[in-house]
Amino acid sequence: KQYIQEAQAFEAKSAAEVEEFRIKYLGKKGILNDLFAQFKSVPNELKKEFGQVVNELKVLVNEKVANLKESFESKSESKSDWDLTRPGEIMELGSRHPINSVKNRIVEIFSRIGFTHSDGPEIEDDWHNFTALNLPEHHPARDMQDTFFIEQSRDFGTDVVLRTHTSSVQIRYMEENQPPIRILSPGRVYRNEAISARSHMMFHQIEGLYIDKNVSFADLRQTLSYFTEALFGKSKIRLRPSYFPFTEPSAEVDVYWGLETETDYRMTKGTGWLEIMGCGMVDPNVLRNVNIDPEEYTGFAFGMGIERIALLLYQIGDIRLYTENDIRFLEQFKSEL
Ligand code: PHE
Repeated sequence: KQYIQEAQAFEAKSAAEVEEFRIKYLGKKGILNDLFAQFKSVPNELKKEFGQVVNELKVLVNEKVANLKESFESKSESKSDWDLTRPGEIMELGSRHPINSVKNRIVEIFSRIGFTHSDGPEIEDDWHNFTALNLPEHHPARDMQDTFFIEQSRDFGTDVVLRTHTSSVQIRYMEENQPPIRILSPGRVYRNEAISARSHMMFHQIEGLYIDKNVSFADLRQTLSYFTEALFGKSKIRLRPSYFPFTEPSAEVDVYWGLETETDYRMTKGTGWLEIMGCGMVDPNVLRNVNIDPEEYTGFAFGMGIERIALLLYQIGDIRLYTENDIRFLEQFKSEL
């Protein structure tokens, strides 16, 4: 208590004196550390009061030091010296990576119609990446996606792979949840491909899955029209018959890139039909693999590469730019949310 009175009475004539005061109380060998050290030997019934007083002292000294410091600082720099026309210091803002901002836009568009987000591991077992998706061992369609295998995985009695698509997340989700299901699974995927301007061994996908009673191909088509219009502006799409083991029927979605789209100021090169994603009605075998009754439920799935969509939106010529971390590239996306 005596220290408190002393501290309260303290007045300083210079900044150096304030510093001296600070060291006396708050320094390593200062009064406060000393008091804290004594705490152990204080009788139990006095500990509470002792603690309160020491704390009070600490708060007081801290406030005092801060106030006094400030008063000396503002005295030494008199206001008449201020140059009010001097420009402020520029704050460097970072920017969102184009892959992330396109992903966020896509997630937002689908969230408006009830799709929620789901996640899964990038290192995946054979069942979730292939077999459950109607791609049993030795199925020729496994070669559609060149796969990275984890070497020691045979020891576990199953292949372990870097996931080649985020369809694996949909399997995981269906194993845990019964319909109705409406999920979007964005994430990194890997394929054993040579790196070039057009392809990469690592890229990002967003896949969607919708399972409920009476879901039809018309629902799929309508959902895709809604999506492409929300992302690209008024646009035309077409569905071309295709093949995926996990959907039947399957289709590839093209968007028309040309004078009729509202966004054509962006399109300096390439008009015509451009492929943006794969889709289809979930194969009954896939539903059976996750214990969903295909007699009761139907659904659709779709999947797209985010890099590819971003290439179109920003007219980026080379997929490698995304991962080179060249600041001149990244800085061009400062206006993106
Ligand atoms: N998983 C497919 C791919 O990676 C894309 C896809 C998803 C196709 C869903 C159809 C339905 O190529």
